[in-house]
Amino acid sequence: MNVIKSRRSIRKYLDKPIPKEIIDKLIEAAKWAPSGMNEQPWGFIVVQDNSLIKELSDRSIPYINKMIEENPKFIGYKKRMKAKDFSIFYHAPCVIIILGRVEAFFYQNDCAMAAQNLMLAASSTGIGSCWVGMMSTLDKDKWFRKKFQLPDNYRVVAPIALGYFENKDIPVIERRLPEILKYF
Ligand SMILES: Cc1cc2nc3c(=O)[nH]c(=O)nc-3n(C[C@H](O)[C@H](O)[C@H](O)COP(=O)(O)O)c2cc1C
Repeated sequence: MNVIKSRRSIRKYLDKPIPKEIIDKLIEAAKWAPSGMNEQPWGFIVVQDNSLIKELSDRSIPYINKMIEENPKFIGYKKRMKAKDFSIFYHAPCVIIILGRVEAFFYQNDCAMAAQNLMLAASSTGIGSCWVGMMSTLDKDKWFRKKFQLPDNYRVVAPIALGYFENKDIPVIERRLPEILKYF
């Protein structure tokens, strides 16, 4: 309960790399997630190269703008994008993108389970994370698919920014009471 409740989406990171053995542990936590028919239809891209993380962010922005135009629900995000030196990954030193194999019937659910495992494992190790759904807009981008040599049958499900952070000024995000539709 403590790990679940203390994980927060972190949007400010320290400029400190995450050691490879810790990244491997996070991916190990991810792969222990349940999946429909145990298909384990996930693949991981790990990016720790700052200039590549910036390029991923920059190349997402036109798609995000289009998304905002088409859906006023995202208008609040436009304000965030006006910040000087904006990065969709909030300058995290590491981004792990979880991609799902489309042949698996529940691939999106499966990858989301893996993502939550990874974020909880990160949190319990003192590493902050934020699922950056906005990056999924890059899924069909030709540059992106070529750069990472992605097979056609993989789709971006969970792009996750990760990094150490200063544990202060983290907003308390409350949860509503659960909507219990019916107890029988
Ligand atoms: C599917 C999904 C997509 C998300 N996309 C973004 C995003 O693009 N940018 C962002 O800053 N946060 C994103 N978040 C984080 C949510 O805003 C955050 O989980 C929510 O506000 C609750 O806050 P908490 O994670 O601190 O409990 C996303 C979360 C999920 C599950």
